[in-house]
Amino acid sequence: MEKLSYVGKSLPRKDAEIKATGAAQYAADREFSGMLHAAAVRSPRPRIKILSISDAKARKVPGYVTLVTHKDIKGVNKWPVVMQDYPFLPEGEARFAGETVALVVAGTARAARKAASLVEIKYRELPSVDDPLKALEKGAVKIYGKDNVISSFVIKKGSVDGAFAKAAFTVEGEFSTNYQVHAYLETQGSIAVPEAGGGMTVHSSTQCPFYVLDAVAAALGLPYHKVKVLQTVTGGGFGGKEDVPALVASHAALCAAKTGRPVKLIYGRKEDFQSMSKRHPGWARVAYAADRNGKITACRVKYVLDGGAYSTLSPIVLWRGTVHAAGPYKIPNVDIETFAAATNKVPAGAFRGFGQPQICFAQESLIDELAGKAGLDPVQFRLKNLLNPGDRTVTSQRLKSSCGLSELVQAVRKRSGWDKKAGSPRVRGDIASGIGFSAAYYGVGLGAKGRYLDRAGAYVNVYKDSSVNVNVGNAEMGQGALTVLAQIAAETLNAPYESVRVEEVDSSKVPDSGPTVASRTTLMSGNAIIEAATPIRERVFRTAYSMLTGMGADASEKMIAAGGVFSMGGKSVPFKAVVAECWSRRLKMAEQGWYAAPRTTFRMRDGQGDAYVIYSYSADAAEVEVDLKTGVTRVKKIWAAYDVGKIVNPRLALGQAQGGILQGMSWALYENLVYKNGIMVNPNFTDYVIATTADKPEYDITFIEKPYAEGPYRAKGMGEVPLIGVAPAVANAIKNACGARVKSVPLLPEKVWKELKKG
Ligand code: MTE
Ligand code: MOS
Repeated sequence: MEKLSYVGKSLPRKDAEIKATGAAQYAADREFSGMLHAAAVRSPRPRIKILSISDAKARKVPGYVTLVTHKDIKGVNKWPVVMQDYPFLPEGEARFAGETVALVVAGTARAARKAASLVEIKYRELPSVDDPLKALEKGAVKIYGKDNVISSFVIKKGSVDGAFAKAAFTVEGEFSTNYQVHAYLETQGSIAVPEAGGGMTVHSSTQCPFYVLDAVAAALGLPYHKVKVLQTVTGGGFGGKEDVPALVASHAALCAAKTGRPVKLIYGRKEDFQSMSKRHPGWARVAYAADRNGKITACRVKYVLDGGAYSTLSPIVLWRGTVHAAGPYKIPNVDIETFAAATNKVPAGAFRGFGQPQICFAQESLIDELAGKAGLDPVQFRLKNLLNPGDRTVTSQRLKSSCGLSELVQAVRKRSGWDKKAGSPRVRGDIASGIGFSAAYYGVGLGAKGRYLDRAGAYVNVYKDSSVNVNVGNAEMGQGALTVLAQIAAETLNAPYESVRVEEVDSSKVPDSGPTVASRTTLMSGNAIIEAATPIRERVFRTAYSMLTGMGADASEKMIAAGGVFSMGGKSVPFKAVVAECWSRRLKMAEQGWYAAPRTTFRMRDGQGDAYVIYSYSADAAEVEVDLKTGVTRVKKIWAAYDVGKIVNPRLALGQAQGGILQGMSWALYENLVYKNGIMVNPNFTDYVIATTADKPEYDITFIEKPYAEGPYRAKGMGEVPLIGVAPAVANAIKNACGARVKSVPLLPEKVWKELKKG
């Protein structure tokens, strides 16, 4: 095992101080001379034909500058995401309530908002659809393509009908899940600054600076080298700053291009709720078959996501859900069909877990039911069927290495006292206690569906004072990327950790590195940094060696490089002195790196082949108390274990685990966005409830590190993993406690209560 100085240590966060003291400059904090402010004019109804837009009244607001509509678009009026169906500003039809129809520019943010409220849209209301299952019915109003299907996938293997006919035990159930709002602390925001010579610099709160680059260049009709995207300190993303910041930034850029002045566009919380992406509501019918010995023989899934009015990221989110739909089990016969349906509601997009939590809730709830039918304990049943190294997934991908799932399940079983608790739920007064389990796997990175984007660049520059600057194309949004990547750079160069700085993304300094999603940053940017730093490392190490021998060190001994110091045979020299010497020898101290993910072999036709390069794993046990009188559930404790490869920073990993669990629990129990007739009813934090620290359960978190040879210092990816299995573990615990099987998330008290009344 290699000895490491920085990787694997709980080093302090690079951005801790600026964030804790309030010094960090978020988009809203930035000022530019002559800056104007924009505000959006939004569609009032789910689906309208726009007849006219008038700013006659808005013009009277002091400070009013101009109205920006689709007519001001010099480029193409198609936002480039996966598919190109979303106009930057609608020309004839607006497709969801809250969609930006036009923008108003004024001298202050307040004047812009006031003026926007006075812009009059004349429209005719069109028939709309608000239910994804109805959207897929034959006679449905056509709002998208010929059949309202945004995207659809299959996984087919073996003979599912045959396996069900022969099965000893079968289960089937319908499950549904609601939206989840990202609830990032910082709402969406961007500032566009026109540059001399016709360029545009965009400051954007984003997790995907290169999506912003694509969009701004398209909207303005500019070549990429005239557009520069600077990521501002980003106050949370969770997937909600993947696609949509590109739209916000393009709107700011259109206003800046029209007025020739810097324009700031910062969203209020209500409009952020109404118009920005969300976790897709999901619906699934799942069935499993098992043989007499409790081995799963078949799985059938129909899975539908509510995509909203435009496709945005639905194809990618749905594909991830498809690949993981049967759960982390060996299953020879599989028939999975999935659909993203269009509705006249806010376009749904990426949210931590990316289409997996919805289907994991359904499938892991049902695995418990199947275990029950087979007369087995849920954990024993899972252990019989789990994927182990050497096994094949439902896409027939063989898991070669770095797969610790069975060990995770055993660890959680032991630490939670599962064997004693599961068989004996307790009732004391009105309070029933129970425990529930779940297991999950997670393909790290974009996988086959996003393979063209699965690459990343890095630029490493060692200055002559020995301080190190690293540019990457993936973003810090709270998860700790700046810190983890600095640790990797420090380790590779043997530079003191304090001397390494990783910056927020500047699109002009690194090549397009794909999006900061799918827990891919440590793996992709980490490997790119190692590639960039390795030739510098060789020069530094060779120079150190020659300095040490020059100082009379005994060259028969091995040179040791650790903690920013080089030593050999009783002599030592610090990184700083070695770098000075490298510079005086005129060595090249700046390098570019690049990492492209290995090829995948997945076939869309039947869903067979390698879907992702590598998987991370999780196991969860949740202990709950259910009030039998009210149906209110409280999660007391969660035991979780993860295999995410080598842990680069244990304290940060723990933070990701705790945050992911709480966010998963919040979705499972509380979060309930309500639409009525295509209008969002509760777009605010008073009526849309999320878990706070007051609700947090006790955590017991274990990492079992199964090294991944291709990963930077053997790491995989972890950012999303902790959220995925929480909801089914909680649902299974409720069932264990009081017999109520609730099949829809959030697991609201009234739903539990109704099941209890059914008896
Ligand atoms: N943690 C914090 N604090 N803030 C975030 O916005 N986003 C999550 C997760 N953890 C997020 C977070 C999501 S959705 C992803 S994809 C990963 O972090 C991305 O980080 P990584 O690529 O560095 O793993
Ligand atoms: Mo995370 S949903 O992949 O940004």
